[in-house]
Amino acid sequence: MTLDGKVAIVTGASRGIGRQIAIQLAKSGARVAVNYASSREQADEVVKTIEQFGGEAAAIQADVSKVNEVERLFSETLTRFGRIDILVNNAGIMENYAIADVTEDVFDRHFAINVKGTYFACQQAMKHMSPGGTILNFSTSVSGAMLPTYSVYAATKGAVEQLTRQLAKEFGPKDIVINCIAPGQVATELFLGGKSPELIDSFRKMNAFGRLGEPEDIANVVELLVSDKARWITGQTIRVNGGFI
Ligand SMILES: NC(=O)c1ccc[n+]([C@@H]2O[C@H](COP(=O)([O-])OP(=O)(O)OC[C@H]3O[C@@H](n4cnc5c(N)ncnc54)[C@H](OP(=O)(O)O)[C@@H]3O)[C@@H](O)[C@H]2O)c1
Repeated sequence: MTLDGKVAIVTGASRGIGRQIAIQLAKSGARVAVNYASSREQADEVVKTIEQFGGEAAAIQADVSKVNEVERLFSETLTRFGRIDILVNNAGIMENYAIADVTEDVFDRHFAINVKGTYFACQQAMKHMSPGGTILNFSTSVSGAMLPTYSVYAATKGAVEQLTRQLAKEFGPKDIVINCIAPGQVATELFLGGKSPELIDSFRKMNAFGRLGEPEDIANVVELLVSDKARWITGQTIRVNGGFI
């Protein structure tokens, strides 16, 4: 599965799942825009890692919750690489609160990054992505699990799943596919942060294999979905969770 000649934007690629996606797409031959919000050193390390195996990448700062910064992410990618074939809307945040403790700020930040960021990046893809392109959005398997304290986060991801379905028939005539990946628990800062070892262990036992997912488990499926063999899949949400739900 070669991505030679293709250009990918991976949002939130400085750490966690996005970092691994950027590295694997580059190993397959894509040139990669490594987006980050504030972790500049980590984004530079991802670029360095890619360059060390002969790949090409550039770190591009942009807060995806701001439409003008999303526009700049696309214009800088075009200036640097000349085209855009793959957009992975991976950037996201997750904070857990019982409904009684959710503030307006918590609600607005989650929707601004997880939903607005994804939506306006799709709008930029409609303007700038080459025919034959692929968009992959990020949901979560938690949206099917009805767990307490996840209401705001899961609501944002429900919106992402729905906008993925809605946009499939707008992107189809441009020969662009758009799908959504819904990981289960993956061992990154987003999942591990603030959880006790006991709670992490209980999540580990919820899937078929008794382990947490690793970023590679998700990046491997991203590689499948951006390949030319997957172009009859569009408008779908694909759970990648080791049988969690
Ligand atoms: N880990 C899991 O268990 C899990 C499960 C299901 C779904 N997911 C989804 O998978 C995606 C990646 O999660 P992860 O676990 O890899 O998270 P992570 O380790 O916390 O990394 C998050 C990434 O998003 C970036 N980011 C955050 N806010 C941003 C913004 N406003 N603009 C641009 N980039 C921003 C961060 O950049 P900076 O470092 O610069 O802040 C970082 O690179 C998310 O959409 C998440 O909801 C994760």
